[in-house]
Amino acid sequence: MDLKEKIGIYEDFPIEGISFKDINSLLLEPKAFKHVIDEMHLVAKALDANIVGIPEARGYIFGTPLAYLLGIGLVPVRKPGKLPGVVVSEEYKLEYGSNIVEIQRDSIKPGDRIILVDDLLATGGTLMAATKLVEKLGGEVSGIIILIELTDLGGRELLKDYFIHSMITYP
Ligand code: PRP
Repeated sequence: MDLKEKIGIYEDFPIEGISFKDINSLLLEPKAFKHVIDEMHLVAKALDANIVGIPEARGYIFGTPLAYLLGIGLVPVRKPGKLPGVVVSEEYKLEYGSNIVEIQRDSIKPGDRIILVDDLLATGGTLMAATKLVEKLGGEVSGIIILIELTDLGGRELLKDYFIHSMITYP
């Protein structure tokens, strides 16, 4: 199946100069969505994980059915101030400014093996921060699965120590 044709492209969104890749048109097509989840499932089965980590918000869309199929737990990786209890935080730089991601401290224990799942890899800042959170708590990242990879933005290089599977690439 040609998944690329299912992705919407919006020029100059959300700001001028950005060519936004919109997954919503793919989500409207059940066969395309099933194809994506089935491929992710096939790859994930070999990674021997016991948790799927999902960056808010679009990582939830792909990571949740994957955890269901694998029969393993889910750990949300959230923007700051959303999670109750004790959290661990990681700040990462954007071109201008920075972002923070958080997980609940007790959600990952030493020896846990985590697959990180998101819709898109661009600079890799989000997923790199997520790997640091996992490792701070003694977990191990067994792999990263994403639908779309923007190959010119350096994410794969930043995450060179990790297994990465992407399904659609754009320069
Ligand atoms: C997008 C996307 C990834 C991240 C990729 O999320 O869903 O999580 O950016 O970019 P990076 O590789 O440069 O870090 P966004 O922060 O826009 O959040 P959203 O899913 O809530 O829209």
